[in-house]
Amino acid sequence: KNETLTIAIDGPASSGKSTVAKRIASELDLIYVDTGAMYRALTFQALESNVNIKDQKALVDLLEKTDVTFEPNEKGQSVFLNGRDITYDIRDNNVTNTVSVVAAHPEVRVLMVKRQQDMASNNGVVMDGRDIGTVVLPDADLKIFLVASVKERAERRHKENKEKGIFSDIDQLKKDIAERDYKDSTRDSSPLKQAEDAFRIDTTKLSIDDVVNEIKKLIQKI
Ligand code: CDP
Ligand code: CDP
Repeated sequence: KNETLTIAIDGPASSGKSTVAKRIASELDLIYVDTGAMYRALTFQALESNVNIKDQKALVDLLEKTDVTFEPNEKGQSVFLNGRDITYDIRDNNVTNTVSVVAAHPEVRVLMVKRQQDMASNNGVVMDGRDIGTVVLPDADLKIFLVASVKERAERRHKENKEKGIFSDIDQLKKDIAERDYKDSTRDSSPLKQAEDAFRIDTTKLSIDDVVNEIKKLIQKI
């Protein structure tokens, strides 16, 4: 494994973070850490065990009993919650539309950030999320901020759903994405924001290969 390089990738929903992060991680032999999956796993656990997602204390208690781990698979990686495979469950609409409420609690974030920093302390990583360049890895070797228009991002999600055999309404997806962007960027505790030293890439008209190549060029430079 590449032991030293740390790459932070932030940006709003469906800007291409995880797809690009997985590619970079596999090409550079780095560990990929999907921090969104950690917030999603806690949200899934809360919904399943009827914990009120507005109750910060209850969520912190739940998080302390919740171990989230990743394992590589053919498509990227699987996500486990206390050993149980929840890779698909955490992409559910119920989780997607409530995760921003869970992620807004400052005490939940403190614990999550600590876990994420531990994962990066002895490993080279590509980590994606919302606050990686600003809070989790402020000294990352390279910071990327991906953006794309709401229309493009809704169309990406629509296509993704269609491939899974799920019907979705583009206008509804646009609304959901815009609402999540709003919640994530206006919360008090580490909102989604571009770090001053991050490179911004607008992926609206770019292919996945284009974005990966652009990031590889930036890596060459550092
Ligand atoms: O894949 P997608 O962009 O839809 O979302 P995600 O990366 O799985 O993140 C899901 C949600 O978790 C986000 O909308 C944020 O509310 C929260 N999140 C966060 O607050 N901080 C992070 N570092 C990662 C995710
Ligand atoms: O992780 P995040 O929510 O930021 O996005 P993602 O899950 O990596 O990407 C959402 C969808 O957009 C995936 O189906 C990608 O294949 C697609 N995508 C794309 O079409 N063009 C890009 N430049 C990047 C991603």
